Parts: sequence; C-alpha cells; structure tokens
Amino acid sequence: MIIQSRHPSETRHLAAVLARALRAGDCLALYGDLGAGKTVFAAAVKEALGVLGEMQSPTFTILRSYVHPAGGPPFHHIDAYRLSDETEWYDLGLDEVAGDDGIALIEWADRIEKALPPNTIRIRIDRPDDSDDENRRSVRITFPEGEPRFADLKF
Ligand SMILES: Nc1ncnc2c1ncn2[C@@H]1O[C@H](COP(=O)(O)OP(=O)(O)OP(=O)(O)O)[C@@H](O)[C@H]1O
Ligand SMILES: [Mg+2]
Repeated sequence: MIIQSRHPSETRHLAAVLARALRAGDCLALYGDLGAGKTVFAAAVKEALGVLGEMQSPTFTILRSYVHPAGGPPFHHIDAYRLSDETEWYDLGLDEVAGDDGIALIEWADRIEKALPPNTIRIRIDRPDDSDDENRRSVRITFPEGEPRFADLKF
C-alpha cells in the first residue's frame, strides 16, 4: 500500500498506527534517501511502543535498544548506513538482535537486504520528484504474505 504524507506529523501518525499492530519478533525495514524521514518514522514507532529512553540517532552506534517498562518487547533501532554488506551484519551479531523477540527497526535496510528475516515489514519513504513541497513524502508499506493482522489497519 502507498500512503501520501504531507507533513512529518502525518508520517508520525502512520508509524504509530502501524506500531500498535506490532508484536514481539516483528522486524521493520526502512528504505529511503538521506533525509527521507526514516528516523522520524522510527521515533514515532518508539513513542507508540512506550519503551523507555530518549531517542537518539543510532548513526554512530549502529544499534540502540530500548526497554519496555511493563515487560513488553524491547525496541531495537538499527542504522545500517555504515555497514558495507551482510557479512558485517552477521559479524556484529545484528542478525540475533533483529531476530530476537523484541521489535526491530532497521534504517538503510538495503545495505543488508539478504539478511532480513522472512517476516520483515518493508517501508520505503520517497520524496516525489514532481512536487516542490518539501514536506511531501510517499510511504510504501509492504507486509509479509500471510499476515492477516495488518489487513484492517486504517492509516
Ligand atoms: N512528510 C514528512 N515525513 C517525514 N519527514 C519529513 C516530512 N516532511 C519533511 N520532513 C523532514 O525531513 C527530515 C527527515 O529526517 P530524518 O532524519 O527522519 O531522515 P532519515 O531518512 O532518517 O535520514 P538519514 O538517512 O540521514 O538518517 C526531517 O527534518 C523532517 O522534519
Ligand atoms: Mg535516519
């Protein structure tokens, strides 16, 4: 499905709607150029999940994990921008993090595409070429097959 966002707040809204349907073990893969809005989306997922801690850009840390105060799934925010390929992903043990019973979100997932778990939800954020509105984005969400859980989501 493709959803048009006209403002960061709309991107945050749709991220929150999706986040409320997530459960332990889910993995979100984010795609899009520099400044597309991946971290805006990630921050809204984090808020909606209710995990603890200030959101920080994981750009220099690659991974930041947030604990849920009431024993819910932890949230793993990964930025794969600096990873050259899947080998580094496995060497750092990030497959175990993304595949555990937390909720994982990976920015720049194209870097490690082949290592993504089969149940990955893919989200591509693009600036349309034909708009001079800086706040416009198209958000394409692709759910894994056989997941009726997401069929009725109203963004
Ligand atoms: N509709 C929109 N949705 C999301 N962000 C938007 C939108 N319109 C404008 N923006 C702005 O675009 C920027 C997106 O920045 P963000 O850090 O989320 O990008 P990113 O995809 O994570 O980039 P990077 O790859 O550098 O980490 C923010 O400054 C945000 O305010
Ligand atoms: Mg980012």
